[in-house]
Amino acid sequence: MPTAASETLAALDQLPPFPPVALRMLDALTREEVETQELVQLASADPVLASEILHAANSALFGLPRRVKALQHAIVLVGRNYLRPLLFTAALRAYLKAPGRSRVFQDWWRHSLAGALLADGLAAACRKSRGEAYTAGLLHDIGRLALMMAVGADQYRAVAARRAPASVLEREQEQFGIDHCQVGKLLLEKWELPRELAEASAQHHDSFRGERTLASLIRLACSLAAALGFATEKSNPSPNFEDWRAALPEGLEWAQRLEPEPLRKTLEERINAYSQI
Ligand SMILES: [Fe+2]
Ligand SMILES: [Fe+2]
Repeated sequence: MPTAASETLAALDQLPPFPPVALRMLDALTREEVETQELVQLASADPVLASEILHAANSALFGLPRRVKALQHAIVLVGRNYLRPLLFTAALRAYLKAPGRSRVFQDWWRHSLAGALLADGLAAACRKSRGEAYTAGLLHDIGRLALMMAVGADQYRAVAARRAPASVLEREQEQFGIDHCQVGKLLLEKWELPRELAEASAQHHDSFRGERTLASLIRLACSLAAALGFATEKSNPSPNFEDWRAALPEGLEWAQRLEPEPLRKTLEERINAYSQI
């Protein structure tokens, strides 16, 4: 039975809130020149988050001989590359505890990290802000997770796996009265994150038009992540890399030269390292 949009929205409202400090830190990290002191100040307002950062700095990943006790030292040590996935995971703390997350959640988490890493690389190739692209990549599919949690993972997956209508957004609209791009936009606006991030989430399933906006870069990163095997929904066939390359609009010659295997291997290694923190 299809659900009315108002009912889905009411269920979305019941979801646990995202920790504001983790979101503010992700927002601050979209700026290349963000000062460590600003991050320390923000993190200090959330003792659980601060202890998670300290824990990460003292993890085997960094192999330090002595314990790190100061938050400032921990933030410098963990560095931007690990801090962002750490904050992302911390922001999802309440969702991590939700029943039925397991496999579905893992696929979504890996897709989001792959999207962030690819967005970062694509931004460097297009000379756009890498910090903004990374955070936009991390959060672009947040609407899918929220929708999944609001309606129930099993019900969501059953809809995602249907064959008709052809697009996942149409299937979501038909069943839940709203699609995950709209949900993502609503959430990012509610959390008062930059407008560009909300727009990128709203438009990440639009067809390529070749324009050089953050939204089109995220669209590219999301579809590339899926084509490299990091899809959010395994039951839903994703285009393979060759199909992805063939669908690229003109003006992206550099993307035509990407090699799928080394790229997939690098993503796999980075994401596996992130899962250790
Ligand atoms: Fe999506
Ligand atoms: Fe995506």
